[in-house]
Amino acid sequence: MCGIVGVVSDNNVSEKLFNGLANLEYRGYDSVGMSFIKNGRLTIRKGVGKLQEVHKKVDFLKLKGSIGLGHCRWSTHGGVTQNNAHPHVDCKKRISVVHNGIIENYSELKRFLIKKGHKFYSQTDTEVIAHLIEENLEGSKIEDAVRSALKKIEGSYALGILFADNPGKLIAARNESPLVVGIGNNENFIASDVPSILRHTNKIIYLEDMEMAVLTKNEAKIFDFDGKEKSKQVDTIKWNAEAAQKSGFKHFMLKEIYEQPRAIADTLNGRLENNHVVFEKEFGLSNSFLKSIKRIVILACGTSWHAGLTGEFMLEELAKIPADVEYASEFRYRHALLDKQTLVIAITQSGETADTLAALKEAKKYGVKTLSICNVMGSSITRISDGVIYTRAGPEIGVASTKAFTTQLAVLYLFTILLAKLRDTLNEMQIRDMMEGIRKIPLQLQSVLDEDKEILKCAELYYNKQNSLYLGRGVNFPIALEGALKLKEVSYIHAEGYPAAEMKHGPIALIDRQMPVVFIAPHDFYTYKKVLGNIEEVKARGGIIIAIATEGDKEIPKKAKHTIFIPKTLYTLSSILSVVPLQLLAYHIADKLGHNPDLPKNLAKSVTVE
Ligand code: AGP
Repeated sequence: MCGIVGVVSDNNVSEKLFNGLANLEYRGYDSVGMSFIKNGRLTIRKGVGKLQEVHKKVDFLKLKGSIGLGHCRWSTHGGVTQNNAHPHVDCKKRISVVHNGIIENYSELKRFLIKKGHKFYSQTDTEVIAHLIEENLEGSKIEDAVRSALKKIEGSYALGILFADNPGKLIAARNESPLVVGIGNNENFIASDVPSILRHTNKIIYLEDMEMAVLTKNEAKIFDFDGKEKSKQVDTIKWNAEAAQKSGFKHFMLKEIYEQPRAIADTLNGRLENNHVVFEKEFGLSNSFLKSIKRIVILACGTSWHAGLTGEFMLEELAKIPADVEYASEFRYRHALLDKQTLVIAITQSGETADTLAALKEAKKYGVKTLSICNVMGSSITRISDGVIYTRAGPEIGVASTKAFTTQLAVLYLFTILLAKLRDTLNEMQIRDMMEGIRKIPLQLQSVLDEDKEILKCAELYYNKQNSLYLGRGVNFPIALEGALKLKEVSYIHAEGYPAAEMKHGPIALIDRQMPVVFIAPHDFYTYKKVLGNIEEVKARGGIIIAIATEGDKEIPKKAKHTIFIPKTLYTLSSILSVVPLQLLAYHIADKLGHNPDLPKNLAKSVTVE
């Protein structure tokens, strides 16, 4: 949940660390810090607040050194204080540590270290690592001291470690928290994600659990925890650094919403061949297996869970396979019944969400085949899945997921076509219609974005409301949940999503003249007329109706106060279009309220702690 970056170079590294942290801030922004070594002296600057706020006080760029670490924190152990901000140090202030994760046995280690005479100044779990290394350092090489410490700590960690007495070496280690090594020219890097170092290198080594990296400016060596050197693949990343910049947009969230036509086009690219869906070699699941499966279980959290619910609808409706969608955090602690004819799918933007990772590991114990739908190449979840379908949204920096969600829906739709074809649940004409439908989506998304002015108007009228309801049915019920989640997370306004027909079983009591009610009501043959009835019920009670409707709809504008139109498409695809106005509405409301939607309070982009 925190971000870490480290550089060992032959020139000053402060700007590289600073820019790295600016890109990592989505992972944590309650405090920030950096450490450097120069002339055998360890210098640390840190403080409470976002990067720019702390920078104003301590001027990070003034610091000099050719080796350094940076950290942005999302607190787990210990409050948001100056002392709890990273980097942390040992008693002699010769070792500096940054950490992302949770050390589960830290209390026990702390008691042991205090008995040995170590003095602690913070309430964090991280500080024990610095003292534990110090404890093991006497007469040992730094690599051995780190290794001995790692063998004693339990929990999740991505670590960066500097030693004032060894100013040319940066040590890193990983267990269940993401960490990559970047190979540069006369400099090497560590970071929590690729985009934060992409402007310096696109040559990346993904560290695995229980691996340690020893970096000098000219070398990057990877070892297991017994000190055996490992040979690792160096991947060349195709994203460019520009993709991780705001490119003139006020916020990443807005940029990423506007990128959706491109993101969906990229996600489809090369995967629609005549009347077939084709995935790349990482897909890894055979046709015979896909024909044989009897059930699909989808594991995910948050927005990805909403994508899963939409996927459930598509899979059952079109490929006729029973599907269940589970909160990953719940699944892992109950004894689910899985057999070998079940396919388990993990949906995750980051591929690093701790609950999803743990749930997938739990599922694998049953010997089931697993598939991940993921946006980040080489991330932890992709490495433990039997197959992967990548969404090609490009780096998603805004904490609120937008383009990752719609590309997840696109992949679920493609996967549904593949299964429907293999299992003969749709005829050739229906498959052709589905393929035609998705081909049009990038252009249609562009026309949804053109409605932005109308959406901004709604935001200007209602940004000061305290509550709101989002109602939808069928494939658009998960979109109601997603719209409500988007509003909550970036604007801090209470919002609930419900199946529209459930409203009369309780939430209708909340409706009055102060309550905006967003209906997701594209035209369909199943529930449209029923939703019109629900709109009437809200209108009769004075609720403020904002409706998402299909172009050409004459009924809804007569009843709703505001109607945002989306183009006509297949019912299952309407969810990809209907969510976009809700993303924009949440964005504009947050912006009107003066909140930074890229860094909502209390949230972090990838939740790598349970
Ligand atoms: C989305 O806006 C949220 N920030 C959050 O719910 C997110 O979708 C969830 O944490 C899962 O993340 P993942 O897709 O990276 O696994």
